Amino acid sequence: MSHSSSPATSQPSAALALVAADLAAVEAKMRGNEQDIFPPLAEAFLSLITSGGKRLRPLLALLAARLFAPMSNQAIALAAAVETLHTATLVHDDVIDNALIRRGNPTLNASWTSGATVLAGDYLFARAAAFAAETGNVRVITLFAETLKVICEGELRQLAARYRWDQPKDAYYERIYAKTASLFAAATAGGAVLGAAREEDVERLRAFGYHLGMAFQIIDDILDFTSTDAVLGKPAGSDLHQGTVTLPVFYFIQDAPDRGALLAQLEAWAAADGHTSTLDLVAHIAQSNAIARAYDEAASFIAEAVAALQPLPASDTRSALLEMATATLGRHR
Ligand code: IPE
Ligand code: IPE
Ligand code: MG
Ligand code: MG
Repeated sequence: MSHSSSPATSQPSAALALVAADLAAVEAKMRGNEQDIFPPLAEAFLSLITSGGKRLRPLLALLAARLFAPMSNQAIALAAAVETLHTATLVHDDVIDNALIRRGNPTLNASWTSGATVLAGDYLFARAAAFAAETGNVRVITLFAETLKVICEGELRQLAARYRWDQPKDAYYERIYAKTASLFAAATAGGAVLGAAREEDVERLRAFGYHLGMAFQIIDDILDFTSTDAVLGKPAGSDLHQGTVTLPVFYFIQDAPDRGALLAQLEAWAAADGHTSTLDLVAHIAQSNAIARAYDEAASFIAEAVAALQPLPASDTRSALLEMATATLGRHR
């Protein structure tokens, strides 16, 4: 089932080298060793947990903790919590988007009903909460709960904003903070808290995770236009079909010579479900200058992520985090 050698699942090498043993402990923790789980659920959740994935969030949590203290069981529990939470959000996201492929494998909702799939996602949320509780750190547990609230609200906001083509850029930023950057920030700030970092350093790590997460989602939104199902291991071109206004769409609309005409065209295209239109809008946007404009914004977020770590002393761990940030920009084509 694992597709860990595909480009979509590769991790930055320096980061991995530093915490490979710790990440293996995280993997074992996420799998668990309970014997009495309802068999179809056990099979589903194990295949979700072991289906690949870049493991960016647990890497961030582990490295953030390692910046300030020797590796601890608490940091490993936090890493397991953030990755299990991430997996749960993907299970729910694929139900909402009706996506049938994820990490190169059929999604759970491809074979289970939506209701059953949502319950399996809830089960993963509960596992994630138990890992967060294992840190024994009330601040981290609270951060975890707050982040989950933000993610749920963000996904609902995104649903409500579908097919509203004429939106301010701020609405997009709010959504990508909620659905993605909030969890990156929780991973890095939580790691720093568990490493007993000083308050200003916790804030630096939060800022690093936030900016990296914003850039990561912008790049994901670019790849949705410029990449393929085979490379991504998930359906490409789907955001526009779902009516989700991402940054490339925002700039495409902004750059349009006749904005009113384009908005009407988008309405018609959406009404026809993207099928009957003579114009392939996804390809059109992919070839437009909107991609470069969105990429430039991702690059600015990465510059801010890098700047957030500059005041910290140089170390192999800091270098690994910086490499993770710059590697994010390399994924866009
Ligand atoms: C996918 O995240 C969801 C987004 C925030 C864009 P990843 O690209 O980190 O997914 P996996 O875990 O590597 O599959
Ligand atoms: C991330 O956004 C979804 C969550 C954080 C739940 P996307 O909707 O862009 O993620 P993909 O592209 O399906 O992985
Ligand atoms: Mg999706
Ligand atoms: Mg996406």
